[in-house]
Amino acid sequence: MNNDQQTLLITGGAGFIGSNFIDFFTEKYPKTQVLNIDKLTYAGNLDNLREIEPRKNYHFIQGDIGDEDTVTSIFEEYDISGVINFAAESHVDRSIEDSHAFVESNVLGTLTLLNAAKKDWEEKGELATRRFHQISTDEVYGSLGKEGSFSESTPYNPRNPYSASKASANFFVKSFGHTYGMNVVISSSSNNYGPRQHKEKLIPTIIHHALDGKQIPIYGDGENIRDWLYVMDHCRALDAVYHQGGPLETYNIGGGNERTNKEIASQICSILDEFVPDYRQSSAIMSYKELITFTEDRKGHDRRYSVDDRKIRQELGWEPVVDFASGLWKTVEWYVNEWKKVQTF
Ligand SMILES: NC(=O)c1ccc[n+]([C@@H]2O[C@H](COP(=O)([O-])OP(=O)(O)OC[C@H]3O[C@@H](n4cnc5c(N)ncnc54)[C@H](O)[C@@H]3O)[C@@H](O)[C@H]2O)c1
Repeated sequence: MNNDQQTLLITGGAGFIGSNFIDFFTEKYPKTQVLNIDKLTYAGNLDNLREIEPRKNYHFIQGDIGDEDTVTSIFEEYDISGVINFAAESHVDRSIEDSHAFVESNVLGTLTLLNAAKKDWEEKGELATRRFHQISTDEVYGSLGKEGSFSESTPYNPRNPYSASKASANFFVKSFGHTYGMNVVISSSSNNYGPRQHKEKLIPTIIHHALDGKQIPIYGDGENIRDWLYVMDHCRALDAVYHQGGPLETYNIGGGNERTNKEIASQICSILDEFVPDYRQSSAIMSYKELITFTEDRKGHDRRYSVDDRKIRQELGWEPVVDFASGLWKTVEWYVNEWKKVQTF
């Protein structure tokens, strides 16, 4: 695919991974115009794009991917050469409380985008060449015991409303590839960590609670295992999948860093003990670890996720380059600096 003069439509780019990806992509491909459509839900934050906004190849539109008129008008106004669909309701806890928004954005929103892209690209005779890239998650595969990993052929077995909506979207994406010959690709990554994540998610929650001297809540026995991937490593993988991934293929993307939630909390507290020891004084503690507390478990909490990502490594030559210790340190440093900005002292 030639990147000159292309216009890539990114959805959900004011969120965590989307904003990091736009940062990465607009710099790497200065000749590609990037159009970011984001509804700016509670999870979308234009501050995430503050440094990116002045770039000449970046443009923002506030809008809902589920709104047919908005999406159709984007395809009419711009010659969209590809779509990367990040937009989603992404918090499992919220989906357990109320899953409607998850169906609207994650399933119907994806379907609306697929229909608009299909119509435009079919008219231009480009259905098989222009790319629709769906951002998915390892959670669609379900939960694992102590052994094994999910491969791309593992049957979907979503176990909470969030993962059910993401799996459902993937089925629609695949169906557009099979039925209409649309050039679709799916990437399913493990848990991301890094700057710009919403404070409701595990790692920012741990850091914020520690700095505020509050109890650090960890679900259940803290033994749930996730595989952590540094967000910029994910962005590099997405670049490879978008440009080189085969049509109708799925690529798993993992970090190779399986950790229990308890270990994550403890490691972050060790970094904070070293990095900002002074803030412990207000809570009269010797280590932030003393704030870790176990709470009632999440309903239906998946025990372990692990992805087998040999396919992307072997076929597309990608591998993560950020080791966990330094990635986590950089991440903690970023949240501490953001936290300091809003303190009055
Ligand atoms: N965060 C992770 O660890 C992780 C792991 C694997 C896959 N994913 C997937 O990656 C994608 C991005 O995740 P994230 O963590 O950046 O999420 P996020 O919640 O930080 O950001 C989601 C963004 O989408 C926007 N959005 C939501 N509904 C919209 C709609 N209807 N129309 C337009 N914009 C809308 C929000 O305003 C927000 O800016 C999601 O599809 C998620 O399922 C995330």
